[in-house]
Amino acid sequence: MTGFPWAHVAITGASSGLGRALAVASARPGATLHLAARDAARLEETAAACRAAGATVATTLLDVRDAAACAAWVAGMERLDLLIANAGISGGTGGAAEPEAQVRAVFDTNVTGVLNTALPALARMAAQAPGADGLRGRVAVVASVVGFVAAPSAPAYSASKAAIQRWAEATDGTRRAQGIRLHAICPGFIRTPMTAPNRFPMPFLISPEEAARRTLAGIAAGRRRVAFPRRAYLLFRLLGALPQGLLARASRTVPAKDISAA
Ligand SMILES: NC(=O)c1ccc[n+]([C@@H]2O[C@H](COP(=O)([O-])OP(=O)(O)OC[C@H]3O[C@@H](n4cnc5c(N)ncnc54)[C@H](OP(=O)(O)O)[C@@H]3O)[C@@H](O)[C@H]2O)c1
Repeated sequence: MTGFPWAHVAITGASSGLGRALAVASARPGATLHLAARDAARLEETAAACRAAGATVATTLLDVRDAAACAAWVAGMERLDLLIANAGISGGTGGAAEPEAQVRAVFDTNVTGVLNTALPALARMAAQAPGADGLRGRVAVVASVVGFVAAPSAPAYSASKAAIQRWAEATDGTRRAQGIRLHAICPGFIRTPMTAPNRFPMPFLISPEEAARRTLAGIAAGRRRVAFPRRAYLLFRLLGALPQGLLARASRTVPAKDISAA
C-alpha cells in the first residue's frame, strides 16, 4: 500500500495476526516502522517482511503492561505520526465463571496496556510540528465489535474493548483542536492465532490482510470509528441491543469461548 500521509508509524503486537498485517501493509520506501511485541523471533519475521518492502524498521521487545518501558519506547522515536495500539489478549469463560487471573490479565493488557503507549504518544504528538496531512499525529486503538455487547462468554474481553473504544472516541473530541486524531478500530472476526481455538461460529470472518487494509483506509479517511465488516458491526450492534437475559440464554446455545489468558 502506498499513499498514506504518515511516514513514522509505531505498532504494538506486530509479531502476529492483525499487527503483523498492519506492519506489512504500512511498509514502503520512506516509511519508518517501530514494531513492538514480546516474541523476538516472530517480531523479527515481521520486520524482515517490512524491510523487504523497502521500509526502515526498528524492533523493540516490549510488554505493554510495563508503563515505563512503553514511555521509553515512544520517547526513543525521532517522530511519531501514527501509533496503532494493537496488542491484546482474549479469553472466555469456558462456560463457567471467568477466572480472576484472566480478568486481571485482560484488563492489564487491553486497557492499561493500550493507555501505556497511547498516553505518551499523545503527549509527544502535542509537542511536535504538524506533518504532511496537517496533523500532529494519530492514535488508533484496536478495539472490537465485541465491545458493543456485554458478552456473557467473554466478560473481561468485551468490557476491555468497550472501554478503549469509548475512550478513544471521546478523547478524539478534545484532541482534534490540538491537531491530533484518535480512531477506534472495531473489527469483526479475523483469522489469526487469537481466533484459531474458537469452537463457535464466527460469521463474516476475514483475513488479517483484509482487516489491515480496512483499518488503514478508515484511518486515512479520518473516521473516528472504523468498524468492519459492515455486517458484523450491524450484527453486534443488534446483539448489544438485546435484553441481557435474552442474550445470556442465546449465548448458552453455542460453545463458550475457552479460558485462555489466565
Ligand atoms: N482476531 C480477531 O478476530 C479480532 C477481532 C477484533 C479485534 N481483535 C484485536 O486485534 C488485536 C490483535 O489480535 P490478533 O487477532 O492479531 O491476535 P494475535 O495473533 O494473538 O496477536 C496478538 C498480538 O498482541 C501481542 N501481545 C499480547 N500481549 C502482549 C503484551 N503484554 N505486550 C506486548 N504485546 C502483546 C502479541 O505479541 P507477543 O506474544 O509477541 O507479545 C501479538 O503480536 C487484539 O487487540 C485483538 O483483541 C482481534
